[in-house]
Amino acid sequence: MEKAKNFKGKFLLLFVATYIFIFVLSLKTSRTDRPIPKPRWPPAECPLWVSNNTITPLTNTKHFLVSAYMDQRVDGLDIRIIGLFRRDSIQPLHCLFCCGDHIGTTTPTTILQHSDNFGFPFVTTDVMCWIPKNCHATHVTLLTEPDAERTSNLSWLPIRNQKTNGKQKMKFNFTVCISNLFGGYNNVLQVAQTLEMYRLLGVDRVVIYNTSCSPELSRLLHSYSQEGFLEVISWPIDKYLNPSSGWLFSQSGGDVHYFGQLTTLNECIYRSMERSRYVLLNDIDEIIMPYQHNNLMSLMNTLQAQQPNTGVFLIENHIFPKKHSEPSGRFHLPQWNNVPGINILEHIYKEDPDRNIYHPHKLIIQPRMVEQTSVHEVLKNFGRRYKVPPHVCRIIHVRMALQGSLTLEQLHVDKRLWDFQEKLIPNVDRVLQRVGLLHSDKQS
Ligand SMILES: *[C@@H]1O[C@H](CO)[C@@H](O)[C@H](O)[C@H]1NC(C)=O
Ligand SMILES: *[C@@H]1O[C@H](CO)[C@@H](O)[C@H](O)[C@H]1NC(C)=O
Ligand SMILES: *[C@@H]1O[C@H](CO)[C@@H](O)[C@H](O)[C@H]1NC(C)=O
Ligand SMILES: *[C@@H]1O[C@H](CO)[C@@H](O)[C@H](O)[C@H]1NC(C)=O
Repeated sequence: MEKAKNFKGKFLLLFVATYIFIFVLSLKTSRTDRPIPKPRWPPAECPLWVSNNTITPLTNTKHFLVSAYMDQRVDGLDIRIIGLFRRDSIQPLHCLFCCGDHIGTTTPTTILQHSDNFGFPFVTTDVMCWIPKNCHATHVTLLTEPDAERTSNLSWLPIRNQKTNGKQKMKFNFTVCISNLFGGYNNVLQVAQTLEMYRLLGVDRVVIYNTSCSPELSRLLHSYSQEGFLEVISWPIDKYLNPSSGWLFSQSGGDVHYFGQLTTLNECIYRSMERSRYVLLNDIDEIIMPYQHNNLMSLMNTLQAQQPNTGVFLIENHIFPKKHSEPSGRFHLPQWNNVPGINILEHIYKEDPDRNIYHPHKLIIQPRMVEQTSVHEVLKNFGRRYKVPPHVCRIIHVRMALQGSLTLEQLHVDKRLWDFQEKLIPNVDRVLQRVGLLHSDKQS
């Protein structure tokens, strides 16, 4: 007993000594790579006020800032700030940097409105600039005047994706970006099935921008984010703007396309750029499904070998109307009776896309090869784009019928989801059980 205590004490001493040693060492090394040493700590003036929010009003303007990223893919530019700008009020802006412990000089900006605005007053906008010499930039903000002295109330954005060259090992192979949840969304069963299906296909991370959802769905999402599979990003766009219920200003009015969907999709690409090999851009009720491979990695290995220098893969959307259910009812499971939402395993009848009219795609991209995206196509990218044939990969999208007049005989049977049922059902049960939504009579 005594001995053990003694040993413990010695061990603790050694531990503390090592800790202090490492701490002193790290102080020394970090000081040497600062260009302008200022021993003042904590920093008195920079950054004074760091925005924790995903939507930050830009002082003296009608615009909103979302996030700032290091992006040196375009010659002469270092920083890309993603924002939501009012198109009729765009003025010259200047980048101001926080260089570790002092404020740097301002640099001019290039303001790039995205080409898709669908007539709305607000548009996703990239503001690009370079970092001044001798500045180890940690935060950035935008000024309407080139003279920093005359400005107060700065809200600084941290600069993310720092010091990377795209060669480090990626943490994730596949990230799915879900642009927005809004309107008290309550489709719990379909969300649980879809997230579990993503996991079976090899997805490592799902990012969801949350404006609002039902309490039950929120519980489910909290559970997924606690285990690290899901990243829920608060997106209170309705606190700042009047979001539109539609995609076209002339039809539905409002300030911005849906709930700022285009902004969140772009934000998600940059958020994923240094950590995920591929990013899937689709909605929460859509599953990008390989039909000749068991998972997304073997699909992409095949496609990438056939299509060199391609960073954008377009996947055709196929609609499975929810009004037609599979007749045997073998997947109408009693334990899911009280779970709100659609059971995708019951819907196996698929509309043939009407290729005479515009037919939408969703995207698998290599984030480092994309600069700007819209919903169904990218707006600016490096490298080539490729339309993936639907027999290789297509989207399973269970929802309201698009071509409502089609009869059952005119639809096609597609049971691809059933290939995964053996693992899918217990996985869905497990997560529903965890959040207390599974029917308790399950065992009987
Ligand atoms: C940002 O978050 C931290 C804690 O996470 C908090 O202490 C700080 O006050 C927040 N800043 C603002 C401006 O809200
Ligand atoms: C600082 O910001 C607050 C709220 O954002 C505003 O009420 C105030 O007038 C601003 N002050 C200056 C000096 O701009
Ligand atoms: C990514 O895929 C490779 C196989 O191509 C695999 O070895 C690796 O473990 C995967 N990484 C993750 C995070 O799943
Ligand atoms: C989603 O947003 C709503 C509204 O702000 C909030 O009540 C809810 O807790 C959020 N859910 C998650 C999982 O973050």
